[in-house]
Parts: sequence; structure tokens; C-alpha cells
Amino acid sequence: MCGIVGFTGNLPAAPLLLDGLHRLEYRGYDSAGIAVLENGKITTEKTVGRIKSLIDSTDNGKTVSGNIGIGHTRWATHGAPSLENAHPHLSGNCKFAVVHNGIIENYSTLRKELKNEGVKFLSQTDTEVVPHLLEKYYNGNLIEAVSKVVKMLEGSFALGIICTDYPDTLVAAKRFSPLILGVSDKGNILASDVTAIASLTKDIIYLGDDEIAVLTPDKTEVVDLSGKALEKEVSEITWDVSAAEKGGFEHFMMKEIFEQPKAIKQTLSGRIKNGEVVFEDFTLTADKLKGINRIVIIACGSAYHAGIVGKYVIEDMTRIPCEVDLASEFRYRNPIIDDETLTIVISQSGETADTLAALKEAKRLGSHVISIVNVVGSSIANASDDVIYTWAGPEIAVATTKGYSTQVSVMYLFAAWAAKHLGTKDDKYIADFLAEVKALPQKIEKILLQKDRLKEMAKRCVNTQSLFFIGRNLDYAVALEASLKLKEISYIHSEAYAAGELKHGTISLIEEDRTVFALSCYNDLADKMLSNIKEVAARGAYVITCANEGETEFEKESNQMIYVPKVHELLVASTEVIPFQIYAYYVAYHKGCDIDKPRNLAKSVTVE
Ligand code: F6R
Repeated sequence: MCGIVGFTGNLPAAPLLLDGLHRLEYRGYDSAGIAVLENGKITTEKTVGRIKSLIDSTDNGKTVSGNIGIGHTRWATHGAPSLENAHPHLSGNCKFAVVHNGIIENYSTLRKELKNEGVKFLSQTDTEVVPHLLEKYYNGNLIEAVSKVVKMLEGSFALGIICTDYPDTLVAAKRFSPLILGVSDKGNILASDVTAIASLTKDIIYLGDDEIAVLTPDKTEVVDLSGKALEKEVSEITWDVSAAEKGGFEHFMMKEIFEQPKAIKQTLSGRIKNGEVVFEDFTLTADKLKGINRIVIIACGSAYHAGIVGKYVIEDMTRIPCEVDLASEFRYRNPIIDDETLTIVISQSGETADTLAALKEAKRLGSHVISIVNVVGSSIANASDDVIYTWAGPEIAVATTKGYSTQVSVMYLFAAWAAKHLGTKDDKYIADFLAEVKALPQKIEKILLQKDRLKEMAKRCVNTQSLFFIGRNLDYAVALEASLKLKEISYIHSEAYAAGELKHGTISLIEEDRTVFALSCYNDLADKMLSNIKEVAARGAYVITCANEGETEFEKESNQMIYVPKVHELLVASTEVIPFQIYAYYVAYHKGCDIDKPRNLAKSVTVE
């Protein structure tokens, strides 16, 4: 996630900005920069990579003098990590410098309008529209210009702004992205979170949505978008600032589990318009899509499981046959691919060696390749014909959670986009489906409230040697991911089985007290699942069933129940996976495992 810091006061700004950025490093970033204002001139320093090189190149800020400035760590969303795309961004006349956290959803419309008026853009970012708009609307009053521009922006953002006409005034504004102001007698500071502020002060003000903060060395004022002054409370930070890095959670994995509603919202943002899906800059046209007779999805691990969800949803909505392949198998099996095959590659890191090699093989054989990737500018993104980014933010825990959930969300978007262009679902169906997709974050929030109950339930598995997950159709796809999550962090042997397949051999492993998780949210097959649950219960299994709220028919045959809110039949993976991520986390927690860094695993698998 991008990080912002800004300072105006009686101390040199650059060292403070660099210190703040250093403290924000834990959020993950790929490039960084600062802008300092002195004698009517803004100086910027940027780097791709570590903040350390910015510290070295500026002799810890000493070469960039001035007492007011803004800084930024960037996690790329629009445009690859590069010096041009690194913040701060300047207006054409170099009067304004801007740092931004979040996504400006209507940036492409604004960018087109500005370009038509002759504005030259130096980056691919959504952010750069802001300094250009400030230049356009500025008539000598900075706050009025900021207010006007903020009203034009859609999406989520936190902005830090300096202007050469205001030698000691730092301006900030936000909507849906956090921004905190720090008040001190050495000057005033702003940042995306308290970690970057705490070295200077413990007195903070939380800026609200659609509020503008005006900071000078000895004053912090907040106004609304009409310019009316607002009373803001100053609170004191009394808690351990280092805990803020993990959002107050003990591990990144739990922090990221709780970030899923936001990550999904961000991934959907700007992509659902008037009841249909819009993918900006897609080169796969509707005509080309009509010539596709087969889709092959390629990935590894959890991304492969997201692909299996995709298969069920895409086939249902588009009627195009869809295969899912493990990248490590695909690349060595002389695959049958041609220019009528569409390949979809899924990877959180964008660097997985097998997935990248499989992608290249598919391209060599003439296939159009779309990748679904989290890391902007990664090797897989660069090698693809089209990229749909999952805007999940950096994922730090080795076991993926929000990465998987956002990949699955993109699968829904792609299925709805393809169904619309192929005419396999009518407009009403697609609009209703997308409305349900948009409602997912809210439903997931509700499931997260079950955390403490799941923590208690997870104690049961601490001494378990081996267990099973069973499900059918989309429930089976989730069973695969739930099983992987549990085994990779808790080191318990676990197998996911298509529930109807158990009786062809594996049922011999079901014995007294064997834990079986039965996933039963996909309604069409509820009766069949009930029979499978009876099969294992009759052989002594301890059955924990996950079903939709209100569907109590499984209770009689189950030892424990987990309920999730009911969603559209094709979206069950998004809700059903959440309790199993939490359950897996707590089994590992009770066992004392190294949750964020499980043994033998790496976050990015760049070797075969
Ligand atoms: C499991 C997990 C892995 C990854 C797999 C692919 O929690 O994270 O199974 O899903 O290594 O990685 P990416 O998505 O980076 O290609």
C-alpha cells in the first residue's frame, strides 16, 4: 500500500520525510520519492527500489534543503514501478507537487480531457491528473483549488500537496483512504498512519472524508469542501506504535484476512459501470472473443485454486469450455493451444517461474494471454497481451488470503464481461450478478466477526494428524484452497476431495473421530452433499459443515456448523473461504507455528 508523509515546520523537512518513509516501509513499496519546497522552487528526489538509496543519494536529506515537503512510498497500481511513475508528481508549471494514496477511479476520463486541452503527462499514474487539475483551477487560492479538484475525483484517495505560492503551507485531503495529522511545537506533520508521525509527536488528528487540512508550522486547520472551518479533536497515541504495522494484529496473515473486504472493493473499483464490466485498455476485443473456442487457465498453488473457481463461473456464464492447468504440468506436456484458445494466467507475485514459462509457451503457440496479477510491472504482467490487476495491495504473509480473494473477484468480472460480449447472459442477469459481486465485501465483513468462535473451534485440530475437506462444484474448489491453507501453515496433513469421489477409495481412511470439513454452500448440490455427509458420519467422522445462513438441514448430521451469509450461487467461493482462512490461522496459532513464514516456503517462487 502506498504511504504518505508531509511536514512543515522549523526543522529541515527532507530528513524527517525520509525517516517517515522508512517507518512506512513495512507497508510494502516498489519506489519512493520526496519533494521539498524552498525559495519558490520545488526539488524532487525519487528512486526505484529501497528508500536506503534515497537516503544515500541525498546524504540523508541534507542535499535537499527546505522546511516544507511531502514524501511517498509507492506500491504500483497504474503504471509500472519507475522513476516517472514514482511520486511526488508535478503540475506542468511546476507550481504544485502531489503525493497520493488510493485509486482515482475516473482518472482516465479526466486524463483524456486534460490531454485534449494540451496537457502533457509524464507518467502512467492515476495520480498525475491531480497536479494538472490544480494548475487548471488555481486562481490564487490554494484551498479553493484543492476543494474544486477533490469534488471532481471519484474513488479513494489521500492527498498531500505543496504549492510554490505558499512557502510554508502543506495541504491534505482525503476520501476513504486514511490520513493522520500530527501536531507538535517543532512543526506539523501528516502521514498515512501513525508509525510515520510518532517520532515527532503523539498528538494526532484523524482527518475525515472530504475534509481538507491546512498545515503551517504553528497551526493545523481543517475545513470542509465548502471552506467552513471544522472543530477537530486532538487525541494522544497511547498504544505501542510498532503494533500499527500489523494493524494491531499479531500476524500479517490475520491483518490481510481482515483487509479482504477493502482489497476486493479496490479490485472492483472503476471496473463496474452501469451494470457492466469495463476493462480499460483491453486489446481482447468482443470480435476476437467470439473467435475463441476454449479457455485455458494456468497458475500454481492458491492461484490455481482461484482458477478452478474461474472455470466453474466462466463455463456457467459463457458456455466456453474451460480447462485449468498447473503451470508446472502445462509447460512440459506439449499442450494443445492455438489462436482460438484464450489463455488466462493467474499470479499474485507475477514472478512465479513455472507460470511465466507456461505463459511464454502459450504465447508461442499463438494464444492471446490475459494475466491476472497483483504486482504491477512484474514479469508475468509485462509478458502478457492484457493484464487485469488485482489491486489487493502488497501481501506480506507467505500464505495468500487477499491475493486469492481478489483473483477470484477478477474471475467474476471476466466471466460477466465475456458473457455480455458473447450474449450468453442477458443484461439484467449480468447487472444483478454484478450487484451481488459488489455486495461481497459487506458480507465478508460479517463473516470476519466469527473470528473468536473460530479460534475456539480450531483448538480441536491441534493434535490432529490428518483430516479431509469435501465439497462439490464450487464447494470443491474452495475445499482445495481451505485444505492448502491449513496444511501449509499448521503442518497437518489434509486432503481436499470431490465429495462424490470419496467412495471410490479414500473413504477407507474415514474412521472414528476423523475430522471432515463438509463445504455445502453451493445450493444446487445440497442434497447430494447431505448424502456424502451421512456417508462419512456413519463411519464415525467428526463433521464440521459450512453452509449458508438459514440452511439448517445439515445440522443433524454434523458435529459443528459454520454459517456464512447467502450469496449468488456462483459467488460462494468468496464467502466460504473466509472462515477456513481464519480456522487455519488459529490451528497454526494454537500449535505455535511461524504463521507468516511457514517452513520451507517462499512468498515468490522464482525457481522451477
Ligand atoms: C499459498 C500460496 C501459494 C501461491 C503460489 C503461486 O498460500 O501463496 O500457493 O499461490 O506459489 O504464487 P503466485 O500467485 O505469486 O504466482
